[in-house]
Amino acid sequence: MSGLVIAMDGPSGTGKSTVSRKLATALDASYLDTGAMYRVATVWVLRAGIDPNDADKVADVVATLPLDIGTDPLAEAVTMGGEDVSAEIRGDAVTKAVSAVSAVPRVRELLVQMQRDLVALSPRIVVEGRDIGTVVLTDADVKIFLTASPEARAGRRNKQNIDEGRGDDYDAVLADVQRRDHADSTRAVSPLRPAEDSVIVDTSDLGMDGVIAALLQVVHDRTGVK
Ligand code: DC
Repeated sequence: MSGLVIAMDGPSGTGKSTVSRKLATALDASYLDTGAMYRVATVWVLRAGIDPNDADKVADVVATLPLDIGTDPLAEAVTMGGEDVSAEIRGDAVTKAVSAVSAVPRVRELLVQMQRDLVALSPRIVVEGRDIGTVVLTDADVKIFLTASPEARAGRRNKQNIDEGRGDDYDAVLADVQRRDHADSTRAVSPLRPAEDSVIVDTSDLGMDGVIAALLQVVHDRTGVK
């Protein structure tokens, strides 16, 4: 199988994870969810009883993180010291604390190295995150930046909350989307921004099938891979 590395960046609420998994499956590629890695690091910090805003302590404890993450796009496998934490990483406590943990430079250095090591093992891979095209894999074959309006992203997240029994509060969700956008795009280390050589795809008005078709076309145009 020919080598193919696809960097998939963008804010949350654009459908990025679902799109990345589907794209990887369509291309018979592996898939790496780097956000899940920052989330596991956050579980490790919270379990250690450390304040996520205490950067030095956070960095020291994350240096001992026993993380194991699978790269099968159809089966999420995230373990910490052998324990399955795939549900816990999506919980509220982790979602609230992960921005602080992921802003710590030593945490990023450590996880970026792990990400590069995992990619080196996979001939074909879709890597999803915030800084993949700009920092982690600057020579990726294809760089995609998925975006959508804050309103579209808040609407999707609010619908997911309703579907999963977490209540209906669009205004609060929109405020949270805006707060996280601001934090992610203004942080000192690896702020969220499109790489200069990325293809920007706005998913506000596209259905999932339309997004996948558009991305397969981009991959084909740039690399010849179908
Ligand atoms: O994509 P997500 O919501 O699971 O990401 C969780 C957090 O991790 C989010 O606050 C952004 C951060 N993150 C990051 O800083 N760099 C990445 N490559 C991936 C995620």
